[in-house]
Amino acid sequence: MELPPFRRHRRLRTSEGLRALVRETELTPAHLVHPLFIEAGLSGRSPIPSMPGQDRLGLDAVAAEARELERLGIGGVMLFGLPASKDERGSGAYAPDGIVQQAAARIRDAAPGLVIFGDVCLCEYTSHGHCGVLGPGGTVDNDASLALLAETAVSLARAGCHVIAPSDMMDGRVAAIRAALDAGGLTEVPILSYAAKFASAFYGPFREAADSAPQFGDRRGYQMDPANTRMALDEVLADIDQGADMVMVKPALPYLDLIRQVRDRVNVPVAAYNVSGEYSMLMAAVANGWLDEARAVDETLTSIRRAGADIIITYHAKSWAARR
Ligand code: PBG
Repeated sequence: MELPPFRRHRRLRTSEGLRALVRETELTPAHLVHPLFIEAGLSGRSPIPSMPGQDRLGLDAVAAEARELERLGIGGVMLFGLPASKDERGSGAYAPDGIVQQAAARIRDAAPGLVIFGDVCLCEYTSHGHCGVLGPGGTVDNDASLALLAETAVSLARAGCHVIAPSDMMDGRVAAIRAALDAGGLTEVPILSYAAKFASAFYGPFREAADSAPQFGDRRGYQMDPANTRMALDEVLADIDQGADMVMVKPALPYLDLIRQVRDRVNVPVAAYNVSGEYSMLMAAVANGWLDEARAVDETLTSIRRAGADIIITYHAKSWAARR
């Protein structure tokens, strides 16, 4: 008998049923975390111009939004706050009645099935917009910032956040936060560290949404150089050593290679943040009629899962889940 001259790969693509049986990567709403921006003093919702389809929420709008995300099966929410006022030391981040603290309590009541991630950083709360406090000379003082970040973490956990997610990129923050949580009796609260967080142009729309742009300089003194892979792996391993329960790569699309390398290298869950600029870029093309939103988003989120992310933090979560 003569062998066929070549393999026919198309045989397994002839029906949706067959394609579904051999699909290697699964994407479900349970893998997704939706970021929310909560603004003090706002009532209802206010659209974010640079992020079409995303709104800042007032405290009075938080419960309904959380219930809707829970109904859609979304895994969790990542909370960011816009405080009523800012100061040099970012005190709004760790105020017991801070905006995110209040939002977390409401979400816990309204949607008990959602996992609430509290982003820990000072940049939304400092008058200068940097992620830590300033030392003499105007550079961000790493060690002086640690106590405030730890205080923020404890405050958010007490207010109802289930997971603490430090995004500030100070050295030693995971250890400092773990020690503070444990000392506060919060031993069961896990840490998702923004471990490999790059100094990225793709955070632009977020800084408008969260009003967190640095008032001078940039974040290259603490966020990572986009050119570095080995250094990113070093950051990831250091955070795990310090007690991170999960690690994140951020942004996602320009760093898919790194998501894969982290996935292959560590055994803790890996998250990827499909950031504001990635969202806005896609949605701008959709608005122009250049891309089909449903297909482009499916492909984008699938690629991040395929690269190795267990969890995807994405502004597409709600609309993607609603289309299923
Ligand atoms: C706070 C923080 C930022 C993002 C998440 N946490 C902004 C920044 O580092 O400047 C960006 C998220 C996004 O762009 O969607 N440090």
